[in-house]
Amino acid sequence: MSGFRTIIEPFRIKSVEPIRFTTPIEREDALRAAGYNLFGLGSSDVLIDLLTDSGTGAMSAAQWAGMMRGDESYAGSASFQRFEQAARELTGFRHIIPTHQGRAAERILCAETVRPGDALPNNNHFDTTRANVEHSGGRAVDLVIEEGRRPQTLHPFKGNVDVSALERLIQTEGRERIPWVMATVTNNAGGGQPVSLQNLRAVRAVCDRHGLPFYLDACRFAENAWFIRQREPGQGGRSPREIAREMFSLADGATFSAKKDGLANIGGFLAMNDDALALRCRNNLILTEGFPTYGGLAGYDLEAIAVGLEEVTDEDYLHYRIRSVEYLWERMDAAGVPTLKPPGGHAVYLDAAALLPHLSARAYPAQALAVELYRAGGVRSVEMGSVMFGRPLPGGGDEPAAMELVRLALPRRVYTQSHIDYVAEVVISVASRATELAGFRITSQAGLLRHFTARFEPL
Ligand SMILES: Cc1ncc(COP(=O)(O)O)c(C=O)c1O
Repeated sequence: MSGFRTIIEPFRIKSVEPIRFTTPIEREDALRAAGYNLFGLGSSDVLIDLLTDSGTGAMSAAQWAGMMRGDESYAGSASFQRFEQAARELTGFRHIIPTHQGRAAERILCAETVRPGDALPNNNHFDTTRANVEHSGGRAVDLVIEEGRRPQTLHPFKGNVDVSALERLIQTEGRERIPWVMATVTNNAGGGQPVSLQNLRAVRAVCDRHGLPFYLDACRFAENAWFIRQREPGQGGRSPREIAREMFSLADGATFSAKKDGLANIGGFLAMNDDALALRCRNNLILTEGFPTYGGLAGYDLEAIAVGLEEVTDEDYLHYRIRSVEYLWERMDAAGVPTLKPPGGHAVYLDAAALLPHLSARAYPAQALAVELYRAGGVRSVEMGSVMFGRPLPGGGDEPAAMELVRLALPRRVYTQSHIDYVAEVVISVASRATELAGFRITSQAGLLRHFTARFEPL
């Protein structure tokens, strides 16, 4: 834009939060106390927190200003009207049902549509989506294209749904056993990879042929729109907002966590065009989340989201956002650290299976790598391998996950380039002694979403 090569953060910093440096002994103690589960660490023991990009972003001055006019009325709040208008203007959906976060939208949708034995296809279900489907007795089926299952394979839209596999699933299950089809944009569990407009259109066509509703898990719709603009033939001249609108127009509804591309610290919504289903979902909402004009959120949260939904499609913001992730990835790639290629929209994913071939999936290589990044440099990442996605087998042990990844997720508008340079240095240093890393075993775990609370022991 400026005619210079350097892409700068398109903001200046108005308020700062100190981060704490810890000693190696403090980090070892913290790891032991947390049972080697990075979710168990206190944030004050973490120097650079790349656990998630969810709810961890910095809000803008305009969002904070919006929060000051939050209308906390129980019913008919003006803040809800602004929130509803912003979400409707973006998505075009008739019904916008606010929820306290994305998984509440998923829970309500699943509770009202999924019956035991149903099959629910998605490119890759995120962990909460999968858990909600399963909690309602359904079977979460991942139908991402073959390239999306191979970390080292380059493809511009590795998040695409395998449309022939979708057709086959509908033939074998029968359309009456499939309450809806979903596509996650971008595909977080598959490496933050985008889905093309062409693929969304193809899924829409399949759904139309079989009379099936099509939903987007739209947490990162703006990042997905940016990739479409950059990579899809004929899309380069369109604004991210126009592209996002077309993405939504191809679906019948969406679940949305505003903690990602809502640029807010909490919130979400469930959106749809189906009047009868919306009525049932709103009744479910009243039972568990709150009245339909606040849905478990404060009025000021609704204001922050309304502003965030505007800001997130800003071209300068998206350019900087996607480029920062790419920059971190380039540093790793240049140093020969195996990563999922190409980089995702919100995160860099390290390929722990390739980096630690001496550890089998049973020894949780991605957990070993994530723990070492914290031990070495105070960097918190998240395991996205057999701990998160492996399935405990009845006779003991696990069915391993398709990939063993460590995700370094960048919070939005939080860290500067020197933070990112530091992270790259830590990762490269750990990778240089990868052969020394030992695996882990699980000593205790919950039945659902075990990665949040499991405890581990080094092998
Ligand atoms: C793709 C995707 N879907 C759903 C969710 C759930 O959203 P929330 O954390 O707001 O419940 C997440 C959160 O990380 C996600 O990445």
